[in-house]
Amino acid sequence: MAVDYAIRGGIAVITLDNPPVNGLGHSTRLGIVEGIERANDDADVRAIVIIGAGKAFSGGADITEFNTPKATQEPTLMTVIKALEASAKPVVAAIHAVAMGGGLELALGAHYRVAAPGAQIALPEVKLGLLPGAGGTQRLPRVLGLETALNMIVSGAPVLSEKLAQTALFDELAEGDLLERALSFASQAAERGGPYPKVRERKIAHPNAEGFIQFARNGVAAVAKHFPAPHKCIDAVEKGVKEGFERGLAFERECFLALVQTPESRALRHAFFGERAAAKIADVPSNTPVRKIERIGVIGAGTMGGGIAMNFLDAGLPVTLLETKQDALDRGLATIRRNYEAQVKKGKLAQEKAEARIALIAPTLAYADLAHADLIIEAVFEELSVKEQVFRQLDAIAKPGAILASNTSTLDLNRIAAFTKRPGDVIGMHFFSPANVMKLLEVVRGEKTDKDVLATVMQLAKKIRKTAVVSGVCDGFIGNRMVEQYLRQALFMLEEGALPAQIDRAIEKFGFAMGPFRMSDLAGNDIGWAIRKRRYLEQPDLHYSGVADRLCEMGRFGQKTGAGWYDYQPGKRDAAPSKLVDDMIVAYSKERGVERRKITDDEIVERLVLSLVNEGAKILEEGIAGKASDIDMVYLTGYGFPLWRGGPMLYADTIGLYNVERAMRKYAKQANGEAWRPAARVTALAQSNGRFND
Ligand code: NAI
Repeated sequence: MAVDYAIRGGIAVITLDNPPVNGLGHSTRLGIVEGIERANDDADVRAIVIIGAGKAFSGGADITEFNTPKATQEPTLMTVIKALEASAKPVVAAIHAVAMGGGLELALGAHYRVAAPGAQIALPEVKLGLLPGAGGTQRLPRVLGLETALNMIVSGAPVLSEKLAQTALFDELAEGDLLERALSFASQAAERGGPYPKVRERKIAHPNAEGFIQFARNGVAAVAKHFPAPHKCIDAVEKGVKEGFERGLAFERECFLALVQTPESRALRHAFFGERAAAKIADVPSNTPVRKIERIGVIGAGTMGGGIAMNFLDAGLPVTLLETKQDALDRGLATIRRNYEAQVKKGKLAQEKAEARIALIAPTLAYADLAHADLIIEAVFEELSVKEQVFRQLDAIAKPGAILASNTSTLDLNRIAAFTKRPGDVIGMHFFSPANVMKLLEVVRGEKTDKDVLATVMQLAKKIRKTAVVSGVCDGFIGNRMVEQYLRQALFMLEEGALPAQIDRAIEKFGFAMGPFRMSDLAGNDIGWAIRKRRYLEQPDLHYSGVADRLCEMGRFGQKTGAGWYDYQPGKRDAAPSKLVDDMIVAYSKERGVERRKITDDEIVERLVLSLVNEGAKILEEGIAGKASDIDMVYLTGYGFPLWRGGPMLYADTIGLYNVERAMRKYAKQANGEAWRPAARVTALAQSNGRFND
C-alpha cells in the first residue's frame, strides 16, 4: 500500500509511503483521496494530517510512471488537490526533508502547512522543460509573493524551509517531532473551526507586478535562449496575476500540455532518464556486491593524474600519488594546490576545506606505498610498454581484490589486463580533461573484467559525481571513436570548399560548445596527427584528408604553440582566422585537383552530426554501448553536444531515421562519399520506421 491511514487522538493521519521519495504515483494519489473521504465520513475524526514516511514528504511525480497511462489516470494530482481543498475538516500537510514538484503542489492544496527545518522546497519541473502542472504557478506566488515564487519556479532551485518560515507557505516551523507538532496544530485548527483557508483565495502581493514580470522576462531571455519552459513559467504566473486564479490555472494546464510535446522537454527528460539508465547494466544486477573503496592510488601526476586525484580528494578519500621522479611529483602537487587555491580565490571553496583536501594526498616515488590502496588508477604516458611496466608492478604489489584501472584513451584494455595475473580486477576509467571538472567518465569493461569490479566503479563514479557510461573495448571507446568520424568530415569539408571558421560557426550555431577546429586547437593538433599516423599503418584503405597533416607540418599544434587552425595572441584563447592557414587549405584543394564549392551551413551541420550518428549506430550494433541513451549521455556530458537537442542519437530519432538514411545516401554520392555507407542499424530503423531510443 502506498498510503497508510491511521487515527491518532481524533485526527486522521494519512502517511505517504511510496519509497524512495513518496512519488505521487497512481496508488498514492488514490490512497490520499480515499483517506480524505474516509476521514470526512468518520464522525470521530476532527482533522487530517498528511505526512511522508521515510526520507521525504514527497519528491513529486513518480518517475516510474512517466510516459505510462498511469501518470494521467484519475485521480490526477489536480483531483487530489481539489479533494484536499474541499475537505470539510482541516487538512494539515506536515513537511520534512523534501517537498518538490507535485509534492509541494499537494502541500499547497492543504489548508495549513507545518514544516521541519532543513526541508528542501522546490518546483523543479522547469529542469525537465516543463512547468508545474498542478497549480504550482498559481498557488506558490499566493503564499510567497511574486518575486520569490517566480524565482523558484523559473530556476527550479530548492530553498530551505527555514528560509521561507516567515511566509504564508508555512503556518509553523516545527522543531522536534514533526508529527506531534502537526497533530497539535490540526487539533487547534479544528477547535477554531472553519471555514479553513485555501491558498487559491489569497491575493498575489507585489507593488509593481508588471515591472517585475518584465524584469524576469529579460533575465530569462538572457539565460534560457534555447528553452521555452522558463518563458512559459513567467507567462503562467503573469496570467494568474492579471486574470485571477481560475484562468491562471487553465492557462498553466495549456502550457504544460504544449511543453510536454516540445523537443526541448523531450531532450531534457531524455537526459534525466539517460543518466539513470546509464547506471544500469543489463547483465550486472543492481544487488551485485561491491568492493569497499576507501584508499585510492593514482599513478602519474601529469595533466590527467592530478585532475583524477582531485575527484577523490573532493569526495574525502585519501589519495597516494605516485610518480617516477621527484620533480614530476612536485610539479603535479603544485598544480593540484594551484587549482584549489583558484577555487578559494573565486569563493567556491573555503580555505580550510582546500587545506583539508590537500592534506589527504600522500605523494610517493615507491610502489610499496600503494600496497594498501583499494583502487589504483594509472594515468602515465600513452605507450603500451609504459603501461606494461606499470601493470606488472601493480600486479606484484597491490593487495588481493584491489581494483586496477587505466585511464588510457586509445590502448587495448584487454592487453593491459593481460599484463597482470588478475585481469578480472582490471578496468578502464577514462576521464576527460580537465578531469576534476568534466562530468563524463567512460567506464571501460574488458573481456575479463569482473562484474563486481564494474558495479563498484559505477557506484564510486556516483560518489565523485561523474556521469559514468559503460563502454566495451574498441579503439577510442564510445566518444573518441565517434568524434574521429566527425573530425574526418570536418577535414573533408575543408578540402571541398569550406574554411575552419565557417565550419566552427555553423556547428556552434547548431549549439555545440565548440566547433571541431577550435576544439582541435585546444586539445593539440599533434594528438590527432599521431592517431592518423597510426591509422595510415593500421588501416591503409581508410581515406583521410591530408590537410590536417599539412597544418602539423607547419608546426601549428594549436593554442600551446600560439598557432593552429587559428592564430592566437600570447596568453589569450581567442581564435582569430589565419590567412596563412586559409591560403594553405585553398592551395591544398588545388593541388588535389578539387574544384572548391560553396558548402552551406546546413550541409556542414548535417555531415558533422550524421557522421556521429552513423558511427554511434555501429557502436550499438557491436554492443560497445549498451543503449542509445548511453551514447547520448557521452555526447551531452563530454563533448558539448547541445543539451536541448538531447544527444546525437535522440537527434536522429527526432528528424527520423528515414531522413537520416536518405541524407547518408545523398552524401555517399558526393566526393569523399565512401565514409557514408549507412550502418546496418540505420538502414533497419529507416525501414521499420523505428528509433534508436525506444
Ligand atoms: P602527461 O604527460 O601530462 O602525464 C603523464 C605523467 O605520468 C607524467 O607526469 C609522467 O612523469 C608520469 N609517468 C610516466 N611514466 C610513469 C611511470 N612509469 N610511473 C609513474 N609515472 C609515470 O599525460 P596525460 O595527458 O595526463 O595522459 C595520461 C594518460 O591519460 C594517458 O594514458 C592518456 O592517453 C590518458 N588521457 C589523457 C587525456 C588528455 O586529455 N590529456 C584524456 C583522457 C585520457
